Parts: sequence; C-alpha cells; structure tokens
Amino acid sequence: MTLKIALTKGRTEKQVLPLLQAAGINCDPIVNKGRQLIFNDDPDYHFILAKGPDVLTYLNRGAMDIGIVGSDILVEQQNPQYDMLDLNTGRCRFVLASTPDFDPSQTKRKIIATKYPLITQTYFEQIGEDVEIIKIEGSVELAPLVGLADAIVDIVETGTTLRENNLKVYAELQAVSTHLVVNRLALKQKRAAIYQLIAQLQKAQKSEV
Ligand code: PRP
Repeated sequence: MTLKIALTKGRTEKQVLPLLQAAGINCDPIVNKGRQLIFNDDPDYHFILAKGPDVLTYLNRGAMDIGIVGSDILVEQQNPQYDMLDLNTGRCRFVLASTPDFDPSQTKRKIIATKYPLITQTYFEQIGEDVEIIKIEGSVELAPLVGLADAIVDIVETGTTLRENNLKVYAELQAVSTHLVVNRLALKQKRAAIYQLIAQLQKAQKSEV
C-alpha cells in the first residue's frame, strides 16, 4: 500500500531527510532533486514537497495521507488531523524580539508584527496585554527596524538573523519542532502501513540518540 507524504520543503526537508533515510526510506531522489516537486517511483512511499501551510491543506483535503511539518504551523492553523509523532528535528523557538531600545513595559498599546497572528494573540492574552497585530509574510525582522511595529513574534533557530539585524530577545514563547501528522481517514484505511512507518521512525530516532 502506498503512503502519500507531503514534506515541507526547505529547512524542514533538509533536517528530516537523514531520519527518513535511517528509517529505511530511500530519499536519494529527493536529496538530488533539482527543482522536482513530486516523487512517485518508490511503490511504498510517494512524496511531494510543499510549503509548510500548504502541507496541511493537502492533508485536510485528503490529497495526501501524511504531512511532515513544523509544530508552529500545526498550532497556528489549529491542525484538525492526527499529530502522531514529534520527529525531534527542526528544533527552534518562538520569541518576542525587538530593537535594543524597546521597552516591554511601555504602557502604550504595542504593535506586533508576525507571520503567526494566532500564536501572538494567544501569548499576549495569556500575559493580559492587548496589542495590535500586523500580519507579515516573511523577513519579519524588518518591521521594528523601519518603525512598522514595536516588536515581532518570530521563530529563532540559530539566532543569526536576529544578531545580524541587531535585534534582542525580550521573551521566550513556545518551542517548535517537526511533527508527523496523519489524515484521519488515511489512518483508518492505511492503518498498518502508517503504524509500521511510525515504528521505523521511532526506532531510527532511538538509534540516533
Ligand atoms: C525564519 C524565521 C527567521 C529565521 C530564523 O525565516 O522567520 O527569520 O528563519 O532563523 P535563524 O535564527 O537561524 O537566523 P525563514 O528563513 O524561514 O524565512 P522568512 O524570513 O522568509 O520567513
């Protein structure tokens, strides 16, 4: 039975491929792919490469059985599918960051720029603060530098982007890692194959530790 897997392309893809290989899946065609987006040669596993938010769209519409995607996207999009396994790759964290002169205790209503409005809203509700949120699609670090926002909520992995743009962390929010998510109907129809894949991944995770 073929499992159809949507893999988040880019950083997530690069970090998770060694684990998939260690779990016995031949990922050589993906490693050497060029601009190819779909990989259907292996009878057991078909792969597509998609942007993170789109991975969930393919899963929600049943076009794919399995998604490999960051927990940032699962939380922000309120994932309705089964979150089956934390792959423990793609580890990073959400932070509140801004310029060195930012005062987190300022009483004026703050403007926060982010790619993740729901996660940002939830954080500020938890600390009892009402803020204005501006949705940005990328390079969020620009917003406080040019006066669009007072601060940002964004993902930090190595810290290089913040450092190189002279931004400081003011608060740590939640941790992020890559997860394996399964379409609800696919779990019923392809149960044995999906649990087999999860067992292989768990075994590979243990031997990597
Ligand atoms: C993410 C994130 C930061 C950067 C953090 O952006 O939004 O900008 O990575 O990584 P670092 O701590 O290792 O520097 P991404 O590269 O996905 O692109 P984007 O700016 O277009 O969102």
